[in-house]
Amino acid sequence: MLTLPPTEETLARAAAMLADDRLVVIPTETVYGLAANAWSPTAVGKIFAAKGRPVNNPLIVHVVSLERLGEAVALPLSARRQNELEQLTQWWPGPLTLVLPRGEQIPDCVTAGRPTVAVRIPSHPVARELLNRCPFPLAAPSANRSKYISPTSAAHCSSGLGELVELVIDGGPCECGVESTIVALSDDGPRLLRPGAITAEAIARRLNVSVAELTKASHSSQAAQPPAPGAETDADCLLAPGMMLEHYAPTTPLRLLVEPPPAQVPPTHVPARSGRIAFQPLRDHEAARFTVVETLSPTGDLSEVARHLFAALRRLDQAGLEAIYVDTCQPIGVGRAIMDRLNRAAAGHAS
Ligand code: TXA
Ligand code: MG
Repeated sequence: MLTLPPTEETLARAAAMLADDRLVVIPTETVYGLAANAWSPTAVGKIFAAKGRPVNNPLIVHVVSLERLGEAVALPLSARRQNELEQLTQWWPGPLTLVLPRGEQIPDCVTAGRPTVAVRIPSHPVARELLNRCPFPLAAPSANRSKYISPTSAAHCSSGLGELVELVIDGGPCECGVESTIVALSDDGPRLLRPGAITAEAIARRLNVSVAELTKASHSSQAAQPPAPGAETDADCLLAPGMMLEHYAPTTPLRLLVEPPPAQVPPTHVPARSGRIAFQPLRDHEAARFTVVETLSPTGDLSEVARHLFAALRRLDQAGLEAIYVDTCQPIGVGRAIMDRLNRAAAGHAS
């Protein structure tokens, strides 16, 4: 696998590979994506194979501009959806994904047979330059092995995806560090399917709905549960099937420190080889209890915590530790995305 800087030559090569149904790892402002021609079932099939991703977990499609939205979405939209879309396009290009009726050029394998498609317009200049060079949209899930932590640097993409991935374009570390916010514009109102850097509070305000309404239990939040009796297929119960528990999990047991600061200290006895992920600098005596400490922000700024979280989890997961202790925060604003990912990462490691 080759990792190259985003030069003119690399971009031309990447566009040619994508046109030839091959895979390219691309930087985005959220996390790195494993991209393929979204119109080609052959190319999209390679994404599922490379990631070891269940075929019932649909992909996000990336388009370069609103003018080209019709390459992924069935237009025109209903008046209600069109209105909601217009309220939300202030965040495009950017880390917001919308679930909308699927356009006819999008094959079944992208949406796992659903009538909807998840679509976003990324803001990363390298992703945009590449999209501009492709006469088709790009399907791109996070460029990690299914169920592992999403990659926020090119180096994270070099392992786990196998030989189907020939090229990684290095666009530097990702700005957001967590995957995009996903909102479904459904018939029974907008629903937050995945929290991200664009906060639920900001979206609710913009759409003039309450946060409670926006985040109300949709089918998606039941994704971790077994199918309801009478459901025809698993898919009936999985509005956002990727949002299953135990996603993003490191291999090392992860322990969340649930008490609010200053009581946010791990138990008196931690295993001999323990790691600590702190949202802000620890006191020396506290830091000294751990083999490795990762400090995510000098001030506890939650955007910075989100930006650095996955890289820290990966580093500590590779440090041969018996346990990783990690700070927590209120699930408000960006904190909602951080706690969503941490709860998933810790699931299955209950103490
Ligand atoms: O930030 C991001 O969104 C990154 C970058 C590369 O753009 N992509 C990403 O893709 O996180 P992925 O595949 O790791 O996550 C896509 C999520 C999954 O949870 C999937 O189930 C959900 O989007 N999804 C995709 N299509 C959907 C649909 N039609 N309805 C509901 N959920 C959908
Ligand atoms: Mg993913």
